[in-house]
Amino acid sequence: VTDGHMVPDYKLVPHEGFNLISGIHSPEEVEQIQNWKIRESDIFVVTYPKSGTIWLQQILSLIEVKGDATAINDQLTSERIPWIEVMGNEEKFDSAPSPRIRVTHLQYKFMPLGLKKKKGKVIYVARNPKDVLVSYFHFHKYATMLETLASIKDTFFEKFMEGNVYGNCWFEHIKTWHSHKDEINFLYVTYEDMIKDLGSVVEKISLFLGKTLTPQQVNKVVEHSTFKNMKDNPWANYKMIPSSLLNQQHGTFLRKGTIGDWKNYFTVAQNERFDRLYQQKMKDVPLSFIWDM
Ligand code: A3P
Repeated sequence: VTDGHMVPDYKLVPHEGFNLISGIHSPEEVEQIQNWKIRESDIFVVTYPKSGTIWLQQILSLIEVKGDATAINDQLTSERIPWIEVMGNEEKFDSAPSPRIRVTHLQYKFMPLGLKKKKGKVIYVARNPKDVLVSYFHFHKYATMLETLASIKDTFFEKFMEGNVYGNCWFEHIKTWHSHKDEINFLYVTYEDMIKDLGSVVEKISLFLGKTLTPQQVNKVVEHSTFKNMKDNPWANYKMIPSSLLNQQHGTFLRKGTIGDWKNYFTVAQNERFDRLYQQKMKDVPLSFIWDM
């Protein structure tokens, strides 16, 4: 028990090749997601963990209100745009007003079949996997639902390489989603493009969603989505989440927000090994990443 909250006994539980977290996900409910009835106006943001999910939650809710932060700053990002795989969310999805905007870390095979009839829209956010690994390592110290690991060198690097984490194999996640891109309404954006030119990515997303924002409104969305402003914004930094989920003494959700932090952690040998695996796994995938600033 910490700050009055019981800490449940979370565990990674494999379900059809994908790890779920007991106490947060229910395999029976995840199975049902395929049958969810999709509306044309539904929007799903898909990410591998630590790729900027919260950033998209903030950006998409701001696009909806054309940059007017006063309209959204009374609700946490995760309440404005919830996860579909979290237990108990099916009922809320069915009765929610349009547009229903949701996020997920799930693999493609679990998604509502309606998406594959080109109903609804998917925005896939990717981040270079070396920075994902480093961000995820820090998140394991901060997130109560994940096992705490002593160091990247000793354990986490191996776990990530093996896909033995929530989200499973990074390569598998991006490759399967990307290989189905023509079967669904799909937009691909990267964390690195957002770091380099957030305004252009906001415009691209707005266009994809059929929303017309003035340049001033785009600027407002950008202003309220910067790393600094989100870190200082209690509705966008998860400070209010209890320690039964996030241990606020062990980190912050908005941690560093940069490209290339992996260079501070990877050994030369790890980097060479990662590059070899990357080249092998991604050789037929027409995607590339920015690895440092
Ligand atoms: P770091 O740990 O590298 O800082 P997710 O929401 O998918 O868990 O992703 C979290 C990562 O996105 C963290 O990375 C976090 O700092 C980063 N992030 C969130 N909002 C951001 C923003 N406005 N600008 C830059 N990075 C952001």
